[in-house]
Amino acid sequence: MSSNTSPLQLIDSFGRMHNNLRISVTDRCNIRCFYCMPAENVEFMPREHLLSFEEIARVVRVGTTLGIDRLRLTGGEPLVRKDLHKLVSMLVNIPGIIDVGLTTNGILLAEQAQQLRDAGLTRLNISLDALDPEVFRRVTRRDGYEQVLLGIEAARAAGFNPIKLNAVSVRGMTEEQIVPFGQLARETDTVVRFIEFMPLDADAQWQRDKVLFAQEIIDRLESEFGPLRPIPSDHVNAPAQDFEFADGIGRIGLIASVSQPFCGSCNRFRVTADGKLRNCLFSHEETDIKSLLRGSGTDQEMAEAMLTCIAAKKEGHEINTARFIQPDRPMYSIGG
Ligand code: 5AD
Ligand code: SF4
Repeated sequence: MSSNTSPLQLIDSFGRMHNNLRISVTDRCNIRCFYCMPAENVEFMPREHLLSFEEIARVVRVGTTLGIDRLRLTGGEPLVRKDLHKLVSMLVNIPGIIDVGLTTNGILLAEQAQQLRDAGLTRLNISLDALDPEVFRRVTRRDGYEQVLLGIEAARAAGFNPIKLNAVSVRGMTEEQIVPFGQLARETDTVVRFIEFMPLDADAQWQRDKVLFAQEIIDRLESEFGPLRPIPSDHVNAPAQDFEFADGIGRIGLIASVSQPFCGSCNRFRVTADGKLRNCLFSHEETDIKSLLRGSGTDQEMAEAMLTCIAAKKEGHEINTARFIQPDRPMYSIGG
């Protein structure tokens, strides 16, 4: 919850208060996960369309006047953006910001983990969908598995704790990874969070029967390791339901975005790398903020753009209805 007491807050028509801004810093990426990007010939945004660090910091400063206090940097792959640690230190120093996280694929983490830590990054999530290098290659369509493992080690050495891994769960592809991930969670201080595959892939190949559901993952883990106990969350808005194994060794999380949507407690909104505000991953409308930043827009006008964006937020994502239409922008261009 926000500690901000300003009368103007980002509260939508369903009473949800938004204090969490996810900032995409680039749509570029050094791998090509099939659930997010096309394999080849990706058209990236022209560089001059990307918000500068100063522009991002201004968006955040305005956001703090409306109750934004938590940030997460995303991509594409955020670590391909030059000098990202400089942005981190700019953001952690903005009054009102209490938490700055980052979601990365880990490929460039070995060389950047310490810098990011020193800059004040508080949370780090590393995306890794498979512990088997062959499956990693099938998912990402690139090499890089060894670099991710080195990145995870570097993150640990830099003092990030816990290390959280995000594993997208796809039927016919990642079933055999569930138990090895469970083992990893039990043997190390790694929290593995399984995420249901969502319809945000560039090739629009998503189908419900390709989602490996949270309950199936729980069943598989329980049949291998015994009962899982839910852990009450510190944050009411956390999308992950965390569990520990009954013997107290190891922790895992489930993000059941499709089978158990958590839209009812959503506190997030997003700014894309090219300066569009989005009130939901799945929304079909955006609010342009770049033209305000690059024109003579005032902070007041930017705050109004944020309030307008949040006011228009729909109740939920509707993936489970016949009305659902996949957004035009795939994940890499929205920011995870
Ligand atoms: N479904 C579920 N998760 C996804 N991610 C990217 N695309 C999808 C998708 N279609 C994940 C990434 C990363 C986080 C930002 O979102 O693996 O961990
Ligand atoms: Fe890159 Fe992340 Fe998209 Fe994979 S999910 S292609 S790592 S941006």
